[in-house]
Amino acid sequence: MHILGISGSLRRQSYNSAVLSAMQPLAPAGMEIKIADLSGIPLYNQDDEAAFPVPAQALKDAIAAADGVIIATPEYNRSIPGVLKNAIDWASRPYGQNSFAGKPALVLGVSVGSIGTAVAQSHLRQILLHLDARVIGQPELYLGPAGQLFDASWNIIDAPTKDLLSKALAELASRVGTSYASAEGITTANAMSAA
Ligand SMILES: Cc1cc2nc3c(=O)[nH]c(=O)nc-3n(C[C@H](O)[C@H](O)[C@H](O)COP(=O)(O)O)c2cc1C
Repeated sequence: MHILGISGSLRRQSYNSAVLSAMQPLAPAGMEIKIADLSGIPLYNQDDEAAFPVPAQALKDAIAAADGVIIATPEYNRSIPGVLKNAIDWASRPYGQNSFAGKPALVLGVSVGSIGTAVAQSHLRQILLHLDARVIGQPELYLGPAGQLFDASWNIIDAPTKDLLSKALAELASRVGTSYASAEGITTANAMSAA
């Protein structure tokens, strides 16, 4: 099972990028988490869709190839960062080729405050639902305060957070399983109606 992790922060010492890396060893058996690189993605411009920029196409392809996605978003001014919205906009295009459609999606966020990212995550869920991703409702992952979650090597030292992340990954694995089953169901239904 291939999962793509997307961090909404380009910052070298990003807590949100760090949590995605820290989730890799927590993945259940059979799940592999790769992390996308948003750093080279240009600002979205519809004029450029005819010759899709290579980094934007790479993101699209990675999402399309993944069985599910994990998006870790910082909260910027009570919403998601422009970097993340820009990447999502590219991946949703061209019209009719939205890479998020049907994709199981786990949303989380780390903030320096204790309740930070709740508003950003709410906005992100709204966007992903519009894109017809299969957004996981529970568990909700409002992680923080960031300074207390990690050790100097970016391992998660907060036991409840680690436990919650493991549970969330198990839920994502189960949603991916359901999504395979439902895709088979659609195939069967189509075959039946064609018969
Ligand atoms: C432009 C900007 C706006 C921010 N707005 C919020 C906010 O609305 N709510 C919040 O909890 N933190 C806010 N923060 C603080 C971020 O939560 C903090 O910088 C966090 O570490 C960013 O995530 P990162 O470590 O993954 O880069 C803001 C930071 C920046 C740079």
